[in-house]
Amino acid sequence: MTTRKLLLLPGDGVGPETMNQMRKLIDWANREHAAGFEIEEGLVGGAAYDAHGASISEQDMAKALAADAVLFGAVGGPKWDDVAYEVRPEAGLLRLRKDLGLFANLRPAICYPALADSSSLRKEVVEGLDILIVRELTGGVYFGEPKEITDLGNGQKRAIDTQIYDTFEIERISSVAFELARTRTNRVCSMEKRNVMKSGVLWNEVVTATHAAGYKDVELTHMLADAGGMQLVRWPKQFDVIVTDNLFGDMLSDVAAMLTGSLGMLPSASLGAPDEATGSRRALYEPVHGSAPDIAGQGIANPIAMIASFAMCLRYSFDMVEPAGQVEEAIAAVLDAGKRTADIMSDGCEQLSTDAMGDAIVEQLTG
Ligand code: IPM
Ligand code: MG
Repeated sequence: MTTRKLLLLPGDGVGPETMNQMRKLIDWANREHAAGFEIEEGLVGGAAYDAHGASISEQDMAKALAADAVLFGAVGGPKWDDVAYEVRPEAGLLRLRKDLGLFANLRPAICYPALADSSSLRKEVVEGLDILIVRELTGGVYFGEPKEITDLGNGQKRAIDTQIYDTFEIERISSVAFELARTRTNRVCSMEKRNVMKSGVLWNEVVTATHAAGYKDVELTHMLADAGGMQLVRWPKQFDVIVTDNLFGDMLSDVAAMLTGSLGMLPSASLGAPDEATGSRRALYEPVHGSAPDIAGQGIANPIAMIASFAMCLRYSFDMVEPAGQVEEAIAAVLDAGKRTADIMSDGCEQLSTDAMGDAIVEQLTG
């Protein structure tokens, strides 16, 4: 039997609780699908800072580089608000993305039928919504240098962040978006700010050229990112795949996520380039929601985004398409049966704890 190494990094806040539910799915995959998953664990974020004074240790970075896939919970919380910028909890996540070369961040926003009423938008605007944000994840203003605050000596300071994109970075992320569009409804909308930013001008140019060179069968449109944000809340169903840079992708994916009713529902995958010899990609899977320190430890967090992240892991890292679909269907069925965690609770439904929601999904799978 193949063995597959998973590194679990539960992190902070609700990360450990939701990941405990995901472990039940790993056991299920091993039992029912002979998946051969072997688990290693590590610390990231504030948990790593408390243990080692760094947001991720070198040993855990080495484990991440050696793993077939990394499953990540969440990082951060008020406890670490005052730690040095270099070792803040988020730095651990950013280092993982950079050092693993995870340039392609896939953030699906799917509105489960049972939750169409929980959105802040009218039901007809979001019902049946299924869009995919493809966010560039290792470039742009997140990593560009210089990145600093300097003292101008006259009582003033100056802060600088640098937005940088090279051609190859835009080519590879737009290729990922076009490839994925082919498996969906074959449409890509690219978003940038070419009316203000040079990086937007190049982004637009390279996406257009990449399309012309290899993806003419895919419908490509362009939108300014601010207008894109507006269109996302006006009529989100006009989109299929949205491709955008690191910072716009961060913001637009939170907007898209909330359309679906709850941040607690949405998974994400961060993928590297395929290895030339083996074809396999480095990958990290994480819920889009953060560490939610306000509800951590109470047993009420929604584990669905974490469990759906595991489904993405089955699909994208291990080509276990059928089990991935089974997990996604089990989530939908449990919601259809009126089972809810507190964040998505509505009248007439049954409210479950984090643990009971994990069990309900596994029970749905095992019958
Ligand atoms: C996200 C988060 C991160 C980001 C933070 C935690 C660094 O907001 O994954 O969207 O800004 O990328
Ligand atoms: Mg974000």
